[in-house]
Amino acid sequence: MFSGKARAYTNIALIKYWGKEDQELIIPMNSSLSLTLDAFYTETQVIFSEDLTEDRFYLDNQLQDSKATVKVSRFLDLVRSQARSSLYAVVKSQNFVPTAAGLASSASGLAALAGAASAALKLDLAPEDLSRLARRGSGSACRSIYGGFAEWQKGNSDQTSRAVKVPSNNFENDLSMIFVVVNDAKKDISSRDGMQRTVETSAFYDGWLQTVPQDLARAKKAIIEKDFNTLGKVTEASALKMHGTTLAANPPFTYWSAESMQVMDLVRQLRNNGLPCYFTMDAGPNVKILVERKNENALLHALSSQLNYQHLVVAHAGPAIEILPEDAPLPSF
Ligand code: DP6
Repeated sequence: MFSGKARAYTNIALIKYWGKEDQELIIPMNSSLSLTLDAFYTETQVIFSEDLTEDRFYLDNQLQDSKATVKVSRFLDLVRSQARSSLYAVVKSQNFVPTAAGLASSASGLAALAGAASAALKLDLAPEDLSRLARRGSGSACRSIYGGFAEWQKGNSDQTSRAVKVPSNNFENDLSMIFVVVNDAKKDISSRDGMQRTVETSAFYDGWLQTVPQDLARAKKAIIEKDFNTLGKVTEASALKMHGTTLAANPPFTYWSAESMQVMDLVRQLRNNGLPCYFTMDAGPNVKILVERKNENALLHALSSQLNYQHLVVAHAGPAIEILPEDAPLPSF
């Protein structure tokens, strides 16, 4: 029996990943940059054993159906092939998401799976190699190997496409991200399908690709210089451009709801009234607001007085993936 455990935190992209150059290897069309957060994480244990005749996958104590298990199995195949093992495994995974459902992320899930499975089979991977492995499960997972800011450098092969840590002078510790949960239902169009449709059909996709390198360079400079407003502006611009591409896809689609737009408007208003804050959005209607930690309370106050129906979750910079000791207690299954 070979067992490994890991805890990985989710990340939110400030410069978005949107589109794949290679579907199978998950090589992206553009580089991206994210902030790992402390409020959402996944803990996973993987136990490879000679006694098993198939892989089994438990998520939040529930045995998963064959569709979910096949995805995990395909990922385990990559680890088995690197370790030259043919053992099946039991995977026990738990998502830690504060109260609101629907915020669980594939980034923390696949990063934790990569960490636990590779630790179980004693692959002893360096962070960049663990990042490459996690990338094969879900692109954004490759950034969750690192704490704070991470840059997924697109590269052009399995070997060269991985995330690295971004020099930051600890700027991440000055920041907060407030999640405004406007709707926690399951998303209609997954990020995987949405980005694919956009790459294939959106009239705006070339425009998206053209401006990413300069946005990324601006973001990295703003981070090292601790320039909050520049980082916020480029974060908001990247999200707006990404979401713009979906409107020009065929058939067109959007992840925005009326509530998302109301929150974005409020962010602009608060900013015009002297509270520096900037929004970003991913493949769903929830809005995430970047704010300096010193202004976190003022923002929370303004949001809760002006939005009566939403649920707010506060996050700060989170740590790198942790490989947990064998005897670390995991939630019971
Ligand atoms: C909008 O990493 O979930 O959140 O690689 O197909 O698993 P796959 O997609 P995923 O896409 C994330 C897209 C995004 C932007 C981002 O996180 O950079």
